[in-house]
Amino acid sequence: MSKKVLVTGCAGFIGYNLSIEMLNEGSTVYGIDNLNSAYSTRLKKARIDNLANKKSFSFIDLDLSNANDVNSLEKNFDTVIHLAARAGVRQSFLNPEIYIRDNTVATANISNYVKNNGIGKLILASTSSIYGDSGTKKVSENIDELESPPSVYAATKIAGENISKTILKDSETVISIPRFFTVYGPSGRPDMSIFRFVRWIVENQPVVIYGDGYQSRSFTYVDDVVAGTVAAAARVGYEVLNLGSNTTTSLIEVVKIIENITGCKAEIEFREPLSADMRQTLANVNKADQLLGWTPTVEMKQGIEKVVNWYIANRDWASQLTL
Ligand code: NAD
Ligand code: UGA
Repeated sequence: MSKKVLVTGCAGFIGYNLSIEMLNEGSTVYGIDNLNSAYSTRLKKARIDNLANKKSFSFIDLDLSNANDVNSLEKNFDTVIHLAARAGVRQSFLNPEIYIRDNTVATANISNYVKNNGIGKLILASTSSIYGDSGTKKVSENIDELESPPSVYAATKIAGENISKTILKDSETVISIPRFFTVYGPSGRPDMSIFRFVRWIVENQPVVIYGDGYQSRSFTYVDDVVAGTVAAAARVGYEVLNLGSNTTTSLIEVVKIIENITGCKAEIEFREPLSADMRQTLANVNKADQLLGWTPTVEMKQGIEKVVNWYIANRDWASQLTL
């Protein structure tokens, strides 16, 4: 039977890709977004236009930090996938109150809504940023170091996890929390490194790198993250699960991969390192493997090639987006 799913943050990078996948699987998808201006709304509107062409998709323009609006939503969803958030590590220091509103108040509202309406399943998107630096070890879900979050963003995402778990304790709703690791892919976020580096290299502009470029990330291709999230929605109960690449790649390596794919030479402009920046992130994904049979499948070269192809196909407007 077709499922009726509510996806929050559907105009966002991951929410858009996840909505497409749920529609392809035969679900009816209601997508919520307030099209905020964290980055270019042109990109968000292009994603919504694409979704609006699909049968079984309905868009709801709504701000989740308004509890009355959330409570006025239809009640009969099988699953709610809460991806809406104010993302971005570095910007979070500039506007803490917006992060508190969108990552904690909005999460409390959606958690109360699923609880009060007896909705069976809530997926709450969380982040590798809460772990801080991995060092050389792969981070697992059960570490205790979440007490000193490295950024306002991380602090609000930990708070969101805790608020949601507290509200849903002893309720009919089962909550699963996937923690994503630096996600990239076509139509990605223009504030993030891979989108920017591809654009700068193709447009022959200097690539701005904060620090020495040897910081590294468990960069994870968006289709892998979507597949893990869909599997978590269908298959697990109360669980926190890392969804990330099991290898880590430095920014310098990313630049080299883009140079090889595009045939363009990058000029790098090194800037002061950012204090909230993690040196390395590296996911331990044994739990997702055991519970979901999930492992990341897309290698960096393959994934970055798709980003380059998307950028070139959409260059006339993608080159104009505010970064
Ligand atoms: P995104 O900014 O592209 O998407 C988030 C969407 O939520 C945006 O379209 C925004 O307009 C919407 N939104 C924010 N506040 C809202 C509100 N109050 N009401 C309604 N809509 C609102 O970000 P993304 O990269 O797609 O991230 C999706 C989720 O995954 C977030 O929860 C983020 O914390 C998490 N995450 C992302 C990454 C990554 O690398 N992209 C990594 C780890 C975790
Ligand atoms: C990303 C997302 O922005 C967060 O929303 C998400 O929660 C997080 O991943 C996660 O995995 O949890 P981040 O790892 O900082 O955060 O990813 P990028 O924005 O791509 O930055 C990666 C590195 O590139 C950082 O060291 C950053 O300082 C650097 N960078 C970024 C540059 O050197 N230049 C730029 O123009 C942009």
